[in-house]
Amino acid sequence: MTKRKPLIAGNWKMYKNIPEAVGTAREMVKLLKEPPNAEVMIAPGCVLLNAVMREIEKSCISLGAQDLFWEKEGAYTGAISASMLVSAGCKYVIIGHSERRQYFAETDRNVNLKIRAAIDSGLVPILCVGETEIQRESEETFSILDKQIQMGLKDFSCDELDKLVVAYEPIWAIGTGKTATSRQAQDVHEYLRNALENTFGNSLAKNIRILYGGSVKPENIAELMAMPDVDGALVGGASLNADTFIRIVSF
Ligand code: PGA
Repeated sequence: MTKRKPLIAGNWKMYKNIPEAVGTAREMVKLLKEPPNAEVMIAPGCVLLNAVMREIEKSCISLGAQDLFWEKEGAYTGAISASMLVSAGCKYVIIGHSERRQYFAETDRNVNLKIRAAIDSGLVPILCVGETEIQRESEETFSILDKQIQMGLKDFSCDELDKLVVAYEPIWAIGTGKTATSRQAQDVHEYLRNALENTFGNSLAKNIRILYGGSVKPENIAELMAMPDVDGALVGGASLNADTFIRIVSF
């Protein structure tokens, strides 16, 4: 079986200003003495990217963004392009986070266009998928995930998706303190990998990293990472504190 290098990604959401972000990034670099077994990424807000990049550029922490707009350039006030993110030093971009879908009315079609823009610019997209509590209770989890995957990745070839990362984030577990059990996470990750295999074939499916997100903390990371199809984590709240995040990274 191919060895997938785990990825632990911190999503800072709309937290921190420049001095706070610089302080946290600097402390993370200081605490991360040895290169961990996982790749590490932090995704600060756009205005913070440049300052954070300066702190982490000589470390093993990569930079990511939380969103982008799909057009290359143009009169789109307030929007951020892939090329802006690349020039700021980003390697990754989170796409289709449930908060973008919920508060900014992002659709699967928008997600598809954003993944296209990311891949065409050489950014690694982290495609977020996940069900609400009501959908889980009414046993719609798998059909919702199928739709998000199929529509999000529509019209891509296997070659184009070779670096893609998928993040399974059950909406009921985000910021709520309710983590999916490692068994629940494994069941969904296995389902997602099979769904990817059915559409894109075995070699892509076995190489794609599928992260779990939703109330990940130092206390539950080891158990999650012990699951065969959990290849890392997308961490929100617990990535805001350097010490807590580095404890997760060093699971
Ligand atoms: P959380 O957020 O870790 O605070 O639950 C995860 C996410 O939204 O990516």
